[in-house]
Amino acid sequence: MYSSKITGLGFYVPENIVTNDDLSKMMDTNDEWIQERTGIKERRWIKEGSGDSTSVMGAKAARKAIERAGLTKDDIDFIVFATLSPDMYFPGGGVEIQEMLEMPTIGALDVRNQCSGFVYAMSVADQFIKTGMYKNILVIGSENHSGGLDKTTRGRNVSVIFGDGAGAVVLSRSEEEGKGILSTHLHSEGKHAKELVLEGPSTGRWVPEIIENNDPDDISYYPYMNGQFVFKHAVTRFSEAILEGLEKNGLKPDDIDLLVPHQANLRIAQFIQKKFKLNDDQVYNNIMYYGNTTAASVVIALSEAWEKGKIKDNDLVVLAAFGSGFTWGSVFIRW
Ligand code: UT7
Repeated sequence: MYSSKITGLGFYVPENIVTNDDLSKMMDTNDEWIQERTGIKERRWIKEGSGDSTSVMGAKAARKAIERAGLTKDDIDFIVFATLSPDMYFPGGGVEIQEMLEMPTIGALDVRNQCSGFVYAMSVADQFIKTGMYKNILVIGSENHSGGLDKTTRGRNVSVIFGDGAGAVVLSRSEEEGKGILSTHLHSEGKHAKELVLEGPSTGRWVPEIIENNDPDDISYYPYMNGQFVFKHAVTRFSEAILEGLEKNGLKPDDIDLLVPHQANLRIAQFIQKKFKLNDDQVYNNIMYYGNTTAASVVIALSEAWEKGKIKDNDLVVLAAFGSGFTWGSVFIRW
């Protein structure tokens, strides 16, 4: 059986920096509250007219990943694209990226697992490579949150957290034993679907119905989050997903060279770091500068850590995520 390894990675974030002070001009919030509760100092939001969108950013990140893998677009056999903020209701963004990159008519699969999207996408791609079906798969996470947030005081508990951006990796077939993706672990618990949700537009909450009701209190087309409830589940499930991978691979927490957690909230990452007794060099966080970019967050952080030389050959790199669904999971990689 083959194994799969990351051969190229890259990320792209919009140029437009939005600070906490900028937000305090749009809604009743302040830098102190945001930093204390989330660790976020600033985030990137797409500027109108810049041409960026979820798929455009995904394509930009993908180009870098393909180039760094030493490949061309024609070497890619398949696309797995994760987002919760697609450019269109349908079709999904995977096909847009296939077109933007002028790729041959390869398959493109969209993954809808929110903050766990990239972890799920990596697991899917890993299976296709392990079975021998594909050799090089482009795995992308991209989000345009700023286009769909309630930027008034009403939406402040959600809108201050989220940022825009994209990241991509090329996952390639490898025959090196004990290297590459060691294992992936995926979970969900749908009974909490409505604790972090965007209900409409959907077939359950259709646009004409929202317009007809013309109800100023109907904000079901904005994301809703039961923050404290989500926080409590996040710390538990993150830990479980990491422990599961450690046990499966006969490893202990101290074997982790770099944990790249989904950038949901710096406090969550710090809790996990403390729980597993990891030092600062063993955990990579960049939520301070990009906010929570959901399906893009793990891959942006992974790419940035790699660009900064924080990942060496043979390192044990652990990706872990938790989010809306609820869904959660981890990816264990021997680099
Ligand atoms: O990525 C997917 C997974 N997501 C997560 O894991 C996020 C998990 N949750 C969280 O990170 C936190 O719950 C938040 C950062 C979202 C919120 O922090 P919190 O400590 O749970 O605050 P809270 O929602 O309990 O609100 C505390 C107070 C409230 O005021 P009162 O009722 O105490 O007077 C809120 O109205 O803070 C107020 N508040 C704000 N104040 C200033 C809420 N949002 C803001 C804001 N600025 N942006």
